[in-house]
Amino acid sequence: MNPQTLLEVDSPALLVDIDRMRRNIQKMARFAKECGVELRPHVKTHKVPAIARMQLEAGSKGICVQKVSEAEVFAGAGFENVFITNEVVGRQKLVKLVELAERNRISVAVDNEANVHEISNQAKEAGAEIALFVDVDVGMHRCGVRPESAPALANLISRSEGVSLGGIMGYEGHVGGAKNDAERDRLCRASTDSIARAKREMVRSGISVESVSMGSSVSVWTNAKNPDVTEVQPGMYVFNDGFLMSNKVASPEECALTVLTTVMSTPAPDRAVVDAGSKAFQFDMGHYPSPLERKGLEMIKFSEEHGWLKVSAGAKTPALGERLRFIPYHCCTCVNQHDWMFGFRGEKVETVWRVEARGKMS
Ligand SMILES: Cc1ncc(COP(=O)(O)O)c(C=O)c1O
Repeated sequence: MNPQTLLEVDSPALLVDIDRMRRNIQKMARFAKECGVELRPHVKTHKVPAIARMQLEAGSKGICVQKVSEAEVFAGAGFENVFITNEVVGRQKLVKLVELAERNRISVAVDNEANVHEISNQAKEAGAEIALFVDVDVGMHRCGVRPESAPALANLISRSEGVSLGGIMGYEGHVGGAKNDAERDRLCRASTDSIARAKREMVRSGISVESVSMGSSVSVWTNAKNPDVTEVQPGMYVFNDGFLMSNKVASPEECALTVLTTVMSTPAPDRAVVDAGSKAFQFDMGHYPSPLERKGLEMIKFSEEHGWLKVSAGAKTPALGERLRFIPYHCCTCVNQHDWMFGFRGEKVETVWRVEARGKMS
């Protein structure tokens, strides 16, 4: 498989507009610098070490992942500073975590005392050290302690062997569900208020807080400006997608990731079917992808290998065999459906990346 041009790429296939992606990487790096915060991009979005390297070259401090098995892929590719922004629970995972920490700088989120004890015991036994970040619930109500409970957990971390206090983190993913700008602003403010409160209470208890890490691709544009935030961890900005367009933080011209499809059936003038459905796009957010630069077409239904296109009255029905590209609604889960990514400029395929951390869910 070595296509030289887009025409030679079989479909469905994941395409990356290299110039757009580089612009996205640079825009976020520049913005973080202007705000005086460190940027630690979440690489769960692209899952490709070569792309993470571009983010580091643009000025990132390290990388974030969500899973130990993702951390293994990136550590194996030479990334020594890896933050697992997620709780790691269970013996099998902890054994792997400590193995990683023996050779790399590993940070992990925690929100439970028993978990701190487990990580501490495991790390102490191996002579490793792991930085723990107190995960604070900043309004998403997923994981995380309440802000006022952060000092107790931080104290326990400071007293435990094999671990050190890395700082505090929060993930305000719920901001992306805001109905309008006013609600988005309110949720951003509430999330930074929560993390600031956790920090304040820790400082009051005599704990120094080195790092305050938060920021999704939606909220980062507001929250990176908050004086309490020292680091941001957005992921999807690298590609942008339908979700970020619907949140008005990306334009179609800033979307770097598309899925290439082929029209495989034209059963009626108002209907065409492409060879890519939920298997190629995913459907975790319940929204369909948007056609790229093509008016009068709307994806209205998926089965696993088919995408139904509604052709508006007056619009041209796509021809059998025609190749159409679509911007996925959620880039992270779409990427996880594919083994390869084709990086292109113009019509030329410049690079083919293996999606190395694809399927790393443990
Ligand atoms: C803890 C955490 N941090 C950062 C991110 C990246 O945020 P986004 O995908 O909105 O850019 C995620 C994404 O799920 C996350 O769960």
